[in-house]
Amino acid sequence: MDTKVADNVFWVGFIDWAVRDFHGYKTSRGSTYNAYLVMDEKTALIDAVKAPYAAPLLEQIQAHVPLEKVDYVVCNHAEPDHSGALPDVMRACPNATLLCNAKCKDALARHYDTRDWKFQVVKDGETLSLGRRTLQFLDTPMVHWPESMVTYLVEDAILFSMDAFGQHYASGFRFDDESDMCEVMQEAKTYYANIVLPYGRPVATALKRLGGLTLKMVAPSHGVIWRSHFDKILAAYQDWMVCKPARKVVIAYCTMWGSTRLMAEAVAEGARTLPVEVKLLNVDVTHDTQIITEVMDCAAFAAGTATLNMGIMPRMAATLTYLRGLKPLGKAGFAFGSYGWAAKGVDEAACFLATMQMAPVCEPLICRYAPDAETLEACRAAGRALAEVAQRA
Ligand code: FEO
Repeated sequence: MDTKVADNVFWVGFIDWAVRDFHGYKTSRGSTYNAYLVMDEKTALIDAVKAPYAAPLLEQIQAHVPLEKVDYVVCNHAEPDHSGALPDVMRACPNATLLCNAKCKDALARHYDTRDWKFQVVKDGETLSLGRRTLQFLDTPMVHWPESMVTYLVEDAILFSMDAFGQHYASGFRFDDESDMCEVMQEAKTYYANIVLPYGRPVATALKRLGGLTLKMVAPSHGVIWRSHFDKILAAYQDWMVCKPARKVVIAYCTMWGSTRLMAEAVAEGARTLPVEVKLLNVDVTHDTQIITEVMDCAAFAAGTATLNMGIMPRMAATLTYLRGLKPLGKAGFAFGSYGWAAKGVDEAACFLATMQMAPVCEPLICRYAPDAETLEACRAAGRALAEVAQRA
């Protein structure tokens, strides 16, 4: 595998082929934790990897330089998928100074015993000479945590962009132009929807800031490096950060004895009377990772649930809790579903949609036990109303 990024700049990360869960996000294609080694008169390691993969990280560094020759370790982000190996790295590299911003120093001290670490706190915009090359540190708060920053290798015009522009995507290739771009863009979209979506404003601020940089390469901390197709991911970020809607309707439902499924199918049938994309997702068999990825760029959304024990179906509550946390913006929607003797489940689903500020296209649709012809016709009409919204997108 070619790990050379540029002259004397190497990828030294870890490919995690087997990981399938990232705090609830289903990583179907695994992931990578990217770390980079910049060798000059001084040597700098840019970021680390998850704790269990410290040994392979150190082995890869040693393939280029003795560990005592590592002068700096840059920590752009304190989340443990990048900082977990730092205790081992700082122990193994006795001459290394850890470079990070003040918030990151505090966060690292709350995760690890950092009392023996040599720190150099860097300020936003500060530069550091490695000899013939210069590192510049730029704060990008909330992309993804408050302490997040990126590091720019000035002379090579390489941006080590941390989580931004990342993908949970295990691959033997290190660059976008070696990879299947459909897979890469799909994983970048899934990553954005499941990790970055609540931070649209900070992303906009960061993009504005980074827009002034000359960029030959953008090297994130997950997935492939953008060397030929950065324009594609940048354009996609411009859409995703504002949840730009496509002509798409998403209907997610959870059924008990099939009544809510019949209603959901009628909603879908109504939506399909107009030329928009319709996604019908049973939450019992569709992972939340996929649901939020579909919802991020839909124009209209409907949530259907049966009532169980005087409340929403637990699986639908979990899905809507996940969606609510990720804050998809600018959707229209409504809730629907069935009940036996207390119509509480749909009320709870409607509350979730209201909390997400989804503009109601109609009142919640409910049916007792099983939908009759009139109810199904109302579902079709509501589905068409969703599609009318989507058609205007
Ligand atoms: Fe890949 Fe926010 O850590």
